[in-house]
Amino acid sequence: MDNEFYKNEIIRLKKEKNAVILGHYYQRDEIQDLSDYIGDSLALAQKAQECDNDIIVFCGVHFMAETAKILNPSRKVLLPDITASCSLAESCPGEEFARFKAQYPDHMVISYVNCTAEIKALSDLICTSGNAEKLVRSLPEEQKIIFAPDKNLGSYINSVTGRHMVLWDGVCMVHDAMKAETVMQLKAEHPDAAVIAHPECNAALLQVADFVGSTKAMLTYIGQSGHKKFIVATETGILYEMRKNNPDKEFITLNASQQCNCADCSYMKQNTLEKLYLCMRDETPEIELDAATIEAAARPIVRMLDMSKKLGIIK
Ligand code: 13P
Ligand code: SF4
Repeated sequence: MDNEFYKNEIIRLKKEKNAVILGHYYQRDEIQDLSDYIGDSLALAQKAQECDNDIIVFCGVHFMAETAKILNPSRKVLLPDITASCSLAESCPGEEFARFKAQYPDHMVISYVNCTAEIKALSDLICTSGNAEKLVRSLPEEQKIIFAPDKNLGSYINSVTGRHMVLWDGVCMVHDAMKAETVMQLKAEHPDAAVIAHPECNAALLQVADFVGSTKAMLTYIGQSGHKKFIVATETGILYEMRKNNPDKEFITLNASQQCNCADCSYMKQNTLEKLYLCMRDETPEIELDAATIEAAARPIVRMLDMSKKLGIIK
């Protein structure tokens, strides 16, 4: 079968089954083209909560589709490749995290959305890279906090807020592997370029960045910036939207210097047109969670969305 066949069938199935396709910025270009909404984790969680389609097809990784199911449990939530995981979610197993949490009984737990439903159920508040700093700043200064599972995002927030959150030792394998030296090498080749980085990058890289923000925040920054060139320290899927929105600007990934595909998230790229077609045709693989997990995990996610609205981060 060729891509044209898959595309036509996906569009047909979408109508026939009253399905909506939510796609993350890191998905393959052709999947982004077929998505009804493209966004960052925060925007997609909100869309999933609000949507009234019978089927939500989540083109992203497992924790994102799980979040959609938790926020809208009466819908069928499909994920084209059920094994599309995330190194951050994998770094934080439930039992180990429960033991870690027990060592800090007077701390609240803030978990980055890149974690399993089990970890969400053990958390007081969820955050994404798009709201983490503002959510933390809104809490009383004396509030003690455990931050999981991303130590890079946690230490970045500690550095900009002056907090001393206790950090779980997890990383995104893609962003953590990006090196400040590579960025400096690219900067020497392109001295007029601005460096933009996702806060999942390590502290050394973030120190040499001109702007640090979520995928959505990077897109906004590029649109408003006077720069014509950007060195982009995040997953390469985002370049599709960056180039579409800014045809007059130039984007350089870290792959350009390392001559590798190491800025690609292999999990995000597991979803293909063929798998998307098959999952819509057969209505499987489906995200399934028990009612107790959904109830416990929904509380901190809904709290995040409510706080984000109050703080003016989302509408
Ligand atoms: P965003 O929250 O910016 O969408 O990022 C999600 C993610 O997985 C980053 O690696
Ligand atoms: Fe997880 Fe990193 Fe891939 Fe995002 S880029 S899904 S954090 S492994």
